[in-house]
Amino acid sequence: MRVIIADNYKEMSKKAAVMVSSQVILKHDSVLGLATGDTPLGMYKELIKLYEDKEVDFSGVTTFNLDEYYKIQRENPESYYYYMNNNFFKYVNVKKEKIYIPNGTAKDIDEECRNYEDEIKNKGGIDIQILGIGANGHIGFNEPDVNFEAETHLVKLDKMTIEANSRFFNSKDEVPTTAISMGIKTIMQSKRVVLLANGEVKADAIYKTVKGKICPEVPASILQLHSDATIIVDKGAAKLL
Ligand code: PGA
Repeated sequence: MRVIIADNYKEMSKKAAVMVSSQVILKHDSVLGLATGDTPLGMYKELIKLYEDKEVDFSGVTTFNLDEYYKIQRENPESYYYYMNNNFFKYVNVKKEKIYIPNGTAKDIDEECRNYEDEIKNKGGIDIQILGIGANGHIGFNEPDVNFEAETHLVKLDKMTIEANSRFFNSKDEVPTTAISMGIKTIMQSKRVVLLANGEVKADAIYKTVKGKICPEVPASILQLHSDATIIVDKGAAKLL
């Protein structure tokens, strides 16, 4: 596990964007694993800048998002479908048919999860997976007491996650209580993973991820076993390292 401590959020975002863009420059048809939340917003902005400056071309890439609320309509501004379009896809040239985000209204969840997993395999697996981390150590929506063997599946959101994400909704009651998420096994099968974290609120989770024991209570701790994991943090998130 490689840990990079950036001076601030902007530097963290720039470093992450360099990792993603160099992946795409070196392999035009890269498969990118993408994340939502506040943390990667700066990285998306940097990637959009690189695209506008013609430094990187996304026309060959395929993308898979980590997760999506269930049930939520794509048109809902809180859906991750909406977020991705609004914060990234509408500004760059990723082809529509190469964008994969779990369907938050799928009728047959098991089929949706199986198909999602199959599509990732059909495209040759994820070359680089971007991750945020919850203050509770979750990655994707893989909450504490995680099953390390799980692939894409329906998850029940942790109380802490519902609390944290209620800032985006009118009230806590509106936050969906379940989601479709890549499992830890899916994430671990990515060729490279890059986890981003900023702010002191993430310091404890980062400490446990990097220096703690590998345990289901801290889902991100499994990344210690990944052969190519990079953690990019700002000084706040690195406070306890
Ligand atoms: P955040 O969420 O980027 O909005 O802090 C990260 C996460 O919960 O995984």
